[in-house]
Amino acid sequence: MTHPSSPIFLVGFSGSGKSSAARKISAILHGSYIDIDQLIEKKSNKSINDIFTQEGEDSFRKYEHEMLHDPSLLEHTIIATGGGCPCFFDNMQYMNNHGITVYLKAPASVLANRIKHRKAARPLFSNIPDEQLIEKIEPLLLQREMIYNTAKIIFPAINFNPYQLLHIIENI
Ligand code: S3P
Repeated sequence: MTHPSSPIFLVGFSGSGKSSAARKISAILHGSYIDIDQLIEKKSNKSINDIFTQEGEDSFRKYEHEMLHDPSLLEHTIIATGGGCPCFFDNMQYMNNHGITVYLKAPASVLANRIKHRKAARPLFSNIPDEQLIEKIEPLLLQREMIYNTAKIIFPAINFNPYQLLHIIENI
């Protein structure tokens, strides 16, 4: 597989499998992958949850924006972003200008099921009872999709096939 000349940015809702997709793609390409949330946790020495509770969401969004705009990020082959990342500041436009953006798309019901199992680490959903998750996800997904859909490639998150995605990227 040819290494794309610009980085691949994976965007999509929580539970769409961005981090796992990024790991699979980087393994195939023998490239490096980075996860913006993990970068924020490492640099601030705090969990995403702690940042949300101690400093608030606005502060988290600023860290996210700063990390995304760090020029050294562009040296990586593949970059996984947090679910809200494209929807704040000029983040989506920046990603579209500096790399190949891929929206990993999944229906709200699938996302709700996946989020259920990793709710504790996700401050936007951690206080919501399982049976109400879908009511929170549906309108937020609808709103965010207006931004996600501006990605260069829209690709199914279910049964994610990294080879298929790389084939599309090679042919754009
Ligand atoms: C968020 C999604 C999370 C993380 C933060 C906020 C969001 O990332 O960035 O909790 O706004 O949807 P994942 O998409 O990896 O869950």
